[in-house]
Amino acid sequence: MQMTSITGLQSEIAESRHCRKSSAKPVMNAAFSKKSKRQRAKRSGRDDGDNAAMTQDTHLLPRERIVGLRASKIREVANAGMGRDDVLAFWFGEPDEVTPEFIRNAAAESIARGETFYSHNLGLPELRAAIAAYLARLHPNTASALGPERIALTSSGVSALSLAAQCLVNPGDRVVCVTPLWPNLVEIPKILGADVHCVALDFDDGGWRLDLDRLLAALTPDTRLCILNAPNNPTGWTLTRAEQRAILERCRRHGTWLLSDDAYERLVFGADAVAPSFFDLADRDDRLISANTFSKAWLMTGWRLGWLVAPPAFVEELGKVIEYNTSCAPVFVQRAGLAAIERGDTVVARTRERLRASRDHLCAGLATLPGVHAPPPPGAMYAFFRIDGMTDSLAFCKNLVSTQGLGLAPGAAFGEEGEGYVRWCFASDHARLDAGLERLRRGLEGWRRR
Ligand SMILES: Cc1ncc(COP(=O)(O)O)c(C=O)c1O
Repeated sequence: MQMTSITGLQSEIAESRHCRKSSAKPVMNAAFSKKSKRQRAKRSGRDDGDNAAMTQDTHLLPRERIVGLRASKIREVANAGMGRDDVLAFWFGEPDEVTPEFIRNAAAESIARGETFYSHNLGLPELRAAIAAYLARLHPNTASALGPERIALTSSGVSALSLAAQCLVNPGDRVVCVTPLWPNLVEIPKILGADVHCVALDFDDGGWRLDLDRLLAALTPDTRLCILNAPNNPTGWTLTRAEQRAILERCRRHGTWLLSDDAYERLVFGADAVAPSFFDLADRDDRLISANTFSKAWLMTGWRLGWLVAPPAFVEELGKVIEYNTSCAPVFVQRAGLAAIERGDTVVARTRERLRASRDHLCAGLATLPGVHAPPPPGAMYAFFRIDGMTDSLAFCKNLVSTQGLGLAPGAAFGEEGEGYVRWCFASDHARLDAGLERLRRGLEGWRRR
C-alpha cells in the first residue's frame, strides 16, 4: 500500500519533467513538498492514513533527482502484457536473431581457457587496438587519429553514455538534446543534476527533420554538453554532413562537449555502409566523444559490451571512473567483441540488408492503414509513425496489448514531441510483421469505433 503510493507519486512527478525549456524554473522536488503530498492524497481519496505513511516513508527514498526521473513508459506497456504468451511484442529495440555462432564460440573458448579474471580498466589491449583499426577503416579520412589510446571498453552502450556523462556533467550544467529520443539519453544527465534542454525535430510526411537554426540557438555559450543520437532511436532521423559541420563549429566556438551516440551508425539504408560521422570532420583537439555498442549491428544485446572514443587525456581519467563503476567489462565478453570486430563485417552487412527489407515491408504495410503516417526511416530499426486523432499513445498502446495482443512502444516514452506516435521495432521476420500489422489494423478499427 505504501509502496503503491510512493510509486504513483514518483511517476506523477516524473511525468512533469521530461525536458526543460530555457525559461523553465529550477526543478522543485515535489516529492518532498508537504503541500503537494496533501493535494495528491486528497485527489486520490486516500487522505490521512496513507498521507501519514508517505510522510514517514519519504526519508527512505533515494535523492530528489532520482525520484524525479521518468519511469519507462515502454516498460509500463510491457508490464501490461507480462505473463501473456499470445502477445506479439515489437516494443523493445532488439534484433530477433541470436548472436552468430563464431562470436558465441569466442566467449565459450575464453571461459574454457579460464579467462575469468579482471582485465585492465580500459579493456583488453588487443580489443582496443582492433576497435581503433576498425574505426580507421570506417573513417579513412579522419584527421582525429583514431588510435587505441582513444578507446575504452565499457559494460554496454548505455554504460558508455553514463560514464561519459559522469566525466563531464556538473550539477546545474546545461545539456542540450534533440528529441524525440531514447529516454536514457535525457535521463542520464539528470541523474548528475544537469538541466536538460530539448530541441524538437519536426515531422512531415517526408520524415523527421532538424531545424538547425533552432539547435544552434540552443547551443548557448554556457552549454556544457550537446548529446546527439543520429541515426536516431526512435525516429531513424540521421544528421547530414553539413549539419554536423555547423554543430561542430558551434561547439568549438563555445567550448561545448559533443557526445555522439553512434549505436546505429552501421544501420543505415542509403548507399553508404556507415552514417555521416563527426570523426570525418573532427581533429584531435575537438571535445568530441563517441559512444558505441556491440548490441545492434553485431546482434549482441544481451552481452552488454560497448565502447567510448575520446581524447587520449580524457581516456586516462576515464579509467578511474570505470574502476569506480564496473572496474572492467568481463574478459570473455570482450573476447566475443574481438571476434565480432575482427570477423563480423558480414554480420553487419547482413543485418543492415535484413533491416532494410523489414523496414520496407513494414512501412508499406503501415501505409495501407487509414490515418497512419509512416515514412520509411533512413536508419536504425524503428518505424515511428503518427496516427491521426490519437493523442494518448500510452493508453493506445496499452489498449493494443489488452485487446489485440500487440506490443508497441508509446511515442510519449520518447518525449513530449513523441505524443501521437507509436514506435515499432522492425528487426523481425516478415511473417511476424504481417501478423502484427493485422492486429494493428483490427486494433485501429476497434479504437476508432469507441
Ligand atoms: C540510441 C541508443 N543508444 C545506446 C543504446 C545502448 O545499447 P546497449 O546498452 O544495449 O549497448 C541503445 C539501446 O537501445 C540505443 O537505442
